[in-house]
Amino acid sequence: MKSQWWKKSVVYQIYPKSFYDSNGDGVGDLKGVIQKLDYLKGLGIDVIWLSPVYQSPMDDNGYDISNYQAIAEEFGSMEDMDRLIIEAEKRDIKIIMDLVVNHTSDEHPWFLESKRDLHNPKRDWYIWKNGKEDGTPPNNWRSIFGGSCWEYDEQTNQYYLHVFSKKQPDLNWENPQVRNEVYKMIRWWMDKGLSGFRVDAITFIKKREDYSDIVSNSFDGLSPIADVSLNQDGIHQFLMELNEKAFSPYDILTVAEAPGVTSKELPKYVGENGYFNMLFEFDHVDLDLGKEGKWYQPNNWNLLQFKTAISTSQNIYNELGWGALYLENHDQPRSLNKFIKPDGISTTSAKMLATVYFLLKGTPFIYQGQEIGMTNVSYESIEEYNDLASIDQYQSALKEGYSIEEALAAIWKRSRDNARTPMQWNDTRNAGFTTSDPWLKVNCNYTSINVENSIENRDSIYYFYKELIHLRKSSEYSDVIVFGKYQALLENHPEIIAYYREFKNKKILIIANFEDEEIKAELDLSVKKIILTNYKNASTNLKDLTLRPYEAIVYEID
Ligand code: GLC
Ligand code: CA
Repeated sequence: MKSQWWKKSVVYQIYPKSFYDSNGDGVGDLKGVIQKLDYLKGLGIDVIWLSPVYQSPMDDNGYDISNYQAIAEEFGSMEDMDRLIIEAEKRDIKIIMDLVVNHTSDEHPWFLESKRDLHNPKRDWYIWKNGKEDGTPPNNWRSIFGGSCWEYDEQTNQYYLHVFSKKQPDLNWENPQVRNEVYKMIRWWMDKGLSGFRVDAITFIKKREDYSDIVSNSFDGLSPIADVSLNQDGIHQFLMELNEKAFSPYDILTVAEAPGVTSKELPKYVGENGYFNMLFEFDHVDLDLGKEGKWYQPNNWNLLQFKTAISTSQNIYNELGWGALYLENHDQPRSLNKFIKPDGISTTSAKMLATVYFLLKGTPFIYQGQEIGMTNVSYESIEEYNDLASIDQYQSALKEGYSIEEALAAIWKRSRDNARTPMQWNDTRNAGFTTSDPWLKVNCNYTSINVENSIENRDSIYYFYKELIHLRKSSEYSDVIVFGKYQALLENHPEIIAYYREFKNKKILIIANFEDEEIKAELDLSVKKIILTNYKNASTNLKDLTLRPYEAIVYEID
């Protein structure tokens, strides 16, 4: 029987390139992570999810791996990685890594061999197809980062498939040799003392097998590959095997990035014999995304939709499985900018957001900088952006007739670089992230928003997160926060989110106002105690409650 230790954990995600630069080359690194372990220990987290540090040409900042068993030079060495695991362990912190096995880099030796000739033993390790009779790509599928998902190779006169960039060719999971090689690699890392994996883009590993065109209504004649390569029939066999051969021998945390999985399918993914312990859902963070995921045609959304997205999965987790609770990661803009109106962004609203997601049923994830309230950036021109997706979205917007200003405004809102700006440690040059020029420009608000200020100021967002972690890990409310049943309240209230959690004889109520004005609520419940609030005090009259702007309160109730 496994301990399921991850149920009680709080995970902190590190995007190594932007976390802390120990040697002044402008790029964050593993030694930098080691130097900041005490900071993380102080915050109270107990698991680090490290975004990829494997050897990579860095086309997609490490999500394009050219050697799974080596560390990228700019991040350090395998010795540094081993030391990180040991130093973290000394502080009771576990490390999980990103597992990127939908694709490799086009510079991975497997691909270099596969590409060599039609009869190479590794030819079938990737997905190669002939073009159409007129020489155009095999079909009209559009890759996630724009353009055809097929790249022509002159030498063998065939195309290879890439769901993401052309430097990220997809592995052919239909080939059992590929799968076995992947499992072997996973076990190699496990034996090094890793505590699990965040499993990248895993719902893409099975493609629709006829590889035919799909109807397109788009300016480029293409159609999103997601429709034919996300969570397709037959994927279950691969995932079952992955679990059996690579994960199940170990007592580890596995969290899958799993777009395309509907709530009906959650049992298969995270149920009792599920493929993973938990998965990242997208509904609640992608509310603002328009059709086909175009950033420049955003969706108007409201709080009721957010509440529905949360409740749908929480209700399932009452019965089976486990939630992965998050508002931010390296692919998402900062949560303050997404969920709060520009004028409302403040310490108070940041604490409100924290309260709302952190006390749901599941394991909370904090993305670096979220704990100090870091926000989006607005670079003046597209040249200053690094993110592949931003550059593609910008160009598509221009092709579809939007102006430069409009295209840029969409990037400001949605760019993945919003979350990738260097971590703001203090108010010295470049936010104390590096002693030279950082690889991506620091957000100019670092003089006020930074770790040093946050630690000096008792009222900061940082201390609020620390308090939430403390409540969850070591207070009389730990059990109800970790294991309690979720129940939504005020489901049709358009401005307030409320739910309670219940375990044995304990009940806690979480209530929060998403507006920057006073809002009334009425609940037929009685207060035993105020546990936490983002104001100095809180009302105890739930029957006639007026919540102040962005007020959030956690109560113990009868
Ligand atoms: C995942 C990662 C993202 C990356 C993509 C391709 O979505 O989170 O950063 O670009 O996979 O590996
Ligand atoms: Ca460095």
